[in-house]
Amino acid sequence: MAETLNNPSRYTITAALPYTNGPIHIGHLAGVYVPADIYARYLRLTGKDVAFVCGSDEHGVAISMKAKKEGVTPQEIIDKYHTIIKKSFQDFGITFDNYSRTSAEVHHETASDFFKKLYEQGDFIEETTAQLYDEEAKQFLADRFVIGTCPKCGHEEAYGDQCENCGSSLNATDLINPKSTITGSTPTTKETKHWFLPLDRYEGFLREWILEGHKNDWKPNVYGQCKSWIDGGLEPRAVTRDLDWGIPVPVEGGEGKVLYVWFDAPIGYISSTKEWAKREGKDWESYWKDENTKLVHFIGKDNIVFHCIIFPAILKSHGGYILPENVPANEFLNLEGNKLSTSKNWAVWLHEYLEEFPDMQDVLRYTLTANAPETKDNDFTWKDFQARNNNELVAILGNFINRVVVLTNKYYDGVVPEPSNFTDVDQETLDALKKYPEVISSSLERYRFREAAQEFMNLARLGNKYLADEEPWKVVKQDEQRVKTIMFVALQIATGLAVLGEPFLPFTSSKLKEILAVRSSAVETSWNDVSEKETLLEADHKINQSQLLFRKIEDSEIQTQLDKLEATKKANENENKAVTPQKDTITFDDFTKLDMRVGTIIEAEKMPKTKKLLVLKVDTGIDTRTIVSGIAESFKPEEIIGKKVTVLVNLAPRPLRGVESQGMILMTESKEGKLVFVNPDEEGVDNGEGIS
Ligand code: MF3
Ligand code: ZN
Repeated sequence: MAETLNNPSRYTITAALPYTNGPIHIGHLAGVYVPADIYARYLRLTGKDVAFVCGSDEHGVAISMKAKKEGVTPQEIIDKYHTIIKKSFQDFGITFDNYSRTSAEVHHETASDFFKKLYEQGDFIEETTAQLYDEEAKQFLADRFVIGTCPKCGHEEAYGDQCENCGSSLNATDLINPKSTITGSTPTTKETKHWFLPLDRYEGFLREWILEGHKNDWKPNVYGQCKSWIDGGLEPRAVTRDLDWGIPVPVEGGEGKVLYVWFDAPIGYISSTKEWAKREGKDWESYWKDENTKLVHFIGKDNIVFHCIIFPAILKSHGGYILPENVPANEFLNLEGNKLSTSKNWAVWLHEYLEEFPDMQDVLRYTLTANAPETKDNDFTWKDFQARNNNELVAILGNFINRVVVLTNKYYDGVVPEPSNFTDVDQETLDALKKYPEVISSSLERYRFREAAQEFMNLARLGNKYLADEEPWKVVKQDEQRVKTIMFVALQIATGLAVLGEPFLPFTSSKLKEILAVRSSAVETSWNDVSEKETLLEADHKINQSQLLFRKIEDSEIQTQLDKLEATKKANENENKAVTPQKDTITFDDFTKLDMRVGTIIEAEKMPKTKKLLVLKVDTGIDTRTIVSGIAESFKPEEIIGKKVTVLVNLAPRPLRGVESQGMILMTESKEGKLVFVNPDEEGVDNGEGIS
């Protein structure tokens, strides 16, 4: 029976290995990496022994598909995105102790050894069954190479191994109306041999371990999903595939086959730990095999089945490994009301964010934490981002720190003053400060990161209220002694914020430590010192000048982001617009009836009381004539004067709003839905030149 470790001696923290089929976006950060990093940083601050590991997930159909799409090899794809992703994590201060990749030799070896051990123990079923096959591509279809309707929830775009809508894990042959994503054709079936992990044999173990052992400490969404699979009946799952990209099946008869990506990827946590331990001179086994080690997996909800059912079954079957104490999976983050999507480019990419908001990593980390999809799907909006920044980071935290630092420099040349007697309010404030480590810890230990971040911000609120009530800038005129005490107390709070803020706002915390000059002190103040030390910042200690911690975000910056999304939306709509079918054929004689000429727009003005119409004067080389054109929503009159255009000159004149239009200007439409001229803008083409 699983018991919660009350006092683990070490922690192994894992964060889902991202597929290297694209860069990472805010959804990844919010769901997995920011909470995992907060947790790991917090544990280190409390003196815990932590291995925080991750790496790139470089096998699986997601990679092969991306390579096919870009016409390059899978190796090129993984190298490209491994580099980009690794850099994004570094840029955002995600403090992995090791970031590995599943193409690493140590991983191939570790995963192969796992497979061989289970094989030799007779823990797999070896079976030849009919699998989906694409006759055109001459390839078996598994995982993301096939989509179809989910038999459990009816979602029409379920993959061959999983439905991302309801989280079910599937066999490709379960899909209703399967379609190859390679050729679009309907697959046939073909016999092939595979190895299956008989999950049904683990039902008893899973019931006892999860349903009885973790009823109260796992999140309801995670527990609930596990319960419904176990109750729904577990079935054998194939752990090998007929693909050419992956880890070769290391046993007899496995030629030409590879391990299923979800067999090898979670083992990547172990390989990454091995790589780290070797580099650091540590013993990897104590992080995976010692019962006093607490293992925690940070993942998104689409990964629950793999981390709670399949990987534990593999670990259990292998023997000798610990199981996760908790799997605090998050729900999904949406963006401005729509599902984040890599293929639809509906995302805020981390590398792009940093270009537009340089040095503002903490703002995004904070916003994503404050609004994390912990218990339900949540929406990221740029307005909320702005509000969190302007109303919380700038107005509460930044404002408090700035006041304290500026006044200390102004009154005391930056030297922490000696306090005299504490009033009740002073004492209460100092006592309240001492309670914060405990309060925030209690939220973090329960994986409530939103709540923890709010509690942290409450400490800044406490500081602000203290200063607003005590008004040192007024009192200074009558009672200098009293002001010293007030500033002393405020400086203790500022130091507390620097220490307790590190997990949430690491960049800000280190700036603040620099300002307070506490960084280089022999022993850095840690989490528990905030409650235990009598004084955090001693009198006579000299601090530095103020620096800007946060800046206000203007409406125009938010509008730029919204415009960008709007353009993406338009582009997607146009992409989806079916290409208009070809019209009936015409004869060559029909064509020669059209008299098209090169012309120049020489005047343009808006047709009064209309939105769409411009009245143009066009030099056609034959004459100068009036043409009414429905392009006012795409062009301002002044920007098109002098433009060379194509004109159909022998179109019968017709009146439009009382103005006779004598011809037509040929236009087409850009991806974004903007009209563009069919433009004969070549040097040396004269007006009146015919087009044929
Ligand atoms: N690559 C997977 C995804 O992005 C996650 C793999 S997690 C691991 O959904 F456990 F397999 F490592
Ligand atoms: Zn489903």
